[in-house]
Amino acid sequence: MKANSVILPPDQIPRQWYNILADIKMNPPLGPDGKPLSPEALAPVFPMNLIEQEVSSQRWIDIPEPVLDVLSIWRPSPLTRAVRLEKLLDTPARIYFKYEGCSPPGSHKPNTAVPQAYYNKVFGIKNLTTETGAGQWGSALSFACSQFGLNCKVYMVRISFDQKPYRKAMMETWGGKCIASPSTETQAGRDALARDPNTPGSLGIAISEAVEAAVGDTSGKTRYSLGSVLNHVMLHQTIIGLEAKKQMAMIDEYPDIIIGCAGGGSNFAGLAFPFVLDKINGKKIEIMPVEPMACPTLTRAPFVYDHGDTARYTPLMPMYSLGHAFVPAPIHAGGLRYHGMAPTVSQLVNEGLLEAKSVSQTEAFEAGIMWARTEGVIPAPETTSALAQVVREAKRAKEEGQAKVIVFTFSGHGLLDLTGYEKFLAGQLTNYALSDDEMAKSMAVFKDFPKPQQVKSR
Ligand SMILES: Cc1ncc(COP(=O)(O)O)c(C=O)c1O
Repeated sequence: MKANSVILPPDQIPRQWYNILADIKMNPPLGPDGKPLSPEALAPVFPMNLIEQEVSSQRWIDIPEPVLDVLSIWRPSPLTRAVRLEKLLDTPARIYFKYEGCSPPGSHKPNTAVPQAYYNKVFGIKNLTTETGAGQWGSALSFACSQFGLNCKVYMVRISFDQKPYRKAMMETWGGKCIASPSTETQAGRDALARDPNTPGSLGIAISEAVEAAVGDTSGKTRYSLGSVLNHVMLHQTIIGLEAKKQMAMIDEYPDIIIGCAGGGSNFAGLAFPFVLDKINGKKIEIMPVEPMACPTLTRAPFVYDHGDTARYTPLMPMYSLGHAFVPAPIHAGGLRYHGMAPTVSQLVNEGLLEAKSVSQTEAFEAGIMWARTEGVIPAPETTSALAQVVREAKRAKEEGQAKVIVFTFSGHGLLDLTGYEKFLAGQLTNYALSDDEMAKSMAVFKDFPKPQQVKSR
C-alpha cells in the first residue's frame, strides 16, 4: 500500500517564520491625520512585541520555544495527496493539500492565536478581546488563551452566534467568554443597533466592539487580538507554507499552482508567501486567492485606503475594500465575509504576482460535497471556495493534458458548520452576486480618503 500523506518528522518543524515585508514594498498605514502611522500609536491596542513584528522587515523571525511547544500538539500538519478526488475527476493533475483541520479548534487559526497569546502574556497582558465571524477564530483564541492563562472575550457576529451555538460552547469550554455582536456593551455596538435593531452584524462592527473594549479598559492589562489581515498574522501562518516546502522536497515535487480561500487572507498567505518568494526570484507558479462572489473584495473592489472596522477605530490600511460599512447578504453561508483584505495580499494582487478568483456559493458547496464523498473530511464552508478552484484547475489540467501539481490549504473541517450543508442539501442555497449598485453604495465611504501609490517590489 502506498502512503498518500507526507509526514514531516517533528524535529524538522520550521523554527523561523518568513516575513514577506523583507521582499516587497508597501504603502504605509495612515493615522487619523492622514500621515504614516507611528508604531507607538498602536500601543493601546497591541503589545509592543507584536507591534515590532507588525512593522519588522527582518526576513526570518525566530519562533519562540514555548510557542513551538504548543504548536507541536498538532504540527507539523500532514501534506496529503487527494488521490480519490483525482480519480473522480479523471485528471492528470496531482492534487496535494495541507490539512489544517487537525488543530484542536479545527482550523489554521491557532497558528497565530498561540503566538499572539504568548507575546501578550510575555508583555504582562491579562485579558484579550477579539471578534469572530463563524466562530473559528474565537475558538482558536480561547484555546490559545487557555494554554497561557489569559482571559478571552469574543464578540461574535450575531447571525453566526444564532446559527452556531456550539462554537460558543467550545469557546466557553476553553474558558473564553462569547457575546453576540452588535452588543449593548460598547458604543460601536449601540450605534449599530440604533442604525438597524435587526442587523445580522458584520465583522467590521464586531472588530469595532472588540477594539473599543480593549482600549477602554483603563487597567492597561487588556489588548485586542486580530485573527487575520495584519502583517504579524500572515507571518505566523507562514509555518504552513514552510512545512509544505519541506514536505514537497521530500517527495521531489514542486507546485505549479497554489490555491487558498481568502477572507482576510491568512490561510492563503500562510501557504503562499514562502512560494511567492520563489516567484519573485523567477519561479513560474500560478498563485490564487479565492473569494466568494457574494463578497468580491479582490476581484471587483478597488485598491484603496480604508478602515479595517465599521466605527473607523483602526488606521487606514492600503487594501482592496468593499467599504468599511459593508454588511454581507445574510443568505451567504460560505464565510469569507470581511470587507477588506490583508494589505500584503492586496499589494501582491495589485502588482500582478497573484491571480484572484471568485466562486459562487453553490459551486463551492458542490465541491465541498464532492470532497466529503471522496476524501472523507467535511470541509469548513470557507475551505469549499478553495476546493471549487481546485476542481476548476484539475479540469483545466485534463483539458490541456498537463500533469499540473496543485497545492492548496485545507483551512479547516466543517463539523461545527453543518447548517450550510443542511441548507445546500435541502436546495435552499441560492447564488448571490453583489450588484454594481450595492457595491457603489458600500464603497462611497472611502471616496475622500487618500489613495495608495502604485508601488512595485521589483
Ligand atoms: C476554516 C477557515 N478558513 C478560512 C477562513 C478565512 O480567513 P483567512 O482568509 O484569514 O484565512 C476562516 C475564517 O474565519 C476559517 O475559519
